[in-house]
Amino acid sequence: MNVVITGGNRGIGLALAKQYLARGAKVFVTCRNACDDLNKLPVTVVKGVDVSNPDMLADTLMPLLSTKIDLLINNAGVLGREGVEDWDPNTIDYQFRVNALGPLLVTQILLPALATNAKIAMITSRMGSMEDNTSGGYYGYRMSKAALNAVGVSLANDLKPKGIAVGLFHPGFVQTDMVNGNGDIDADTSASRLVSRIDELTLKNTGSFVHSNGELLPW
Ligand SMILES: NC(=O)c1ccc[n+]([C@@H]2O[C@H](COP(=O)([O-])OP(=O)(O)OC[C@H]3O[C@@H](n4cnc5c(N)ncnc54)[C@H](OP(=O)(O)O)[C@@H]3O)[C@@H](O)[C@H]2O)c1
Repeated sequence: MNVVITGGNRGIGLALAKQYLARGAKVFVTCRNACDDLNKLPVTVVKGVDVSNPDMLADTLMPLLSTKIDLLINNAGVLGREGVEDWDPNTIDYQFRVNALGPLLVTQILLPALATNAKIAMITSRMGSMEDNTSGGYYGYRMSKAALNAVGVSLANDLKPKGIAVGLFHPGFVQTDMVNGNGDIDADTSASRLVSRIDELTLKNTGSFVHSNGELLPW
């Protein structure tokens, strides 16, 4: 099984790489810059992949086009913390480019390399849910993850005839750099749960929005 993970140099992406390695998968990790933790692993590292940069993505992802990809995990993401009176169009635009446009572009570029019956996992957030938003704020993050959810549902519809299932997964509140080490669970626990959810992803439940604990999330 060949697995591609974006943003796999730390946090949940790195933990996912370890989980799939432990299962005997061949793992390809894309990152902007590698690090010791990643270099220690027996994975193929594809460096220089900035998902916010549409002009360079096709070139930097080129090494992956010769691989038959069974699972693509769009994990790379950024979190801004805008308040209603304190936000900047540039940071919101950047979150859109990383969190929503990036996964769409990566998927489009790697589509020719996806195996028949491949799966695509989008690591989204419940913060992109309308119904679940009871606390406000986080304008760029919420908007960009809601946009990612729209991307995931369209891809699920468009790729179903090709036998490709697409899942939208909230990893939980996870102790990574993104949330300054706060969170309810560590990255290994989140990754292990995500692997189980990805195992359950089929063409029957393609396009669903699921918490790593198995709960179906409201849009
Ligand atoms: N932690 C949580 O509680 C939580 C909750 C809900 C959803 N999520 C989602 O889970 C995913 C992983 O987050 P995490 O918690 O593991 O955060 P993290 O530790 O901050 O890791 C984020 C990863 O995304 C990469 N990344 C950021 N901008 C990028 C860009 N422009 N191009 C390529 N890679 C980029 C980072 O690479 P660099 O080292 O190059 O910056 C890093 O590998 C994200 O999509 C996040 O939104 C996390």
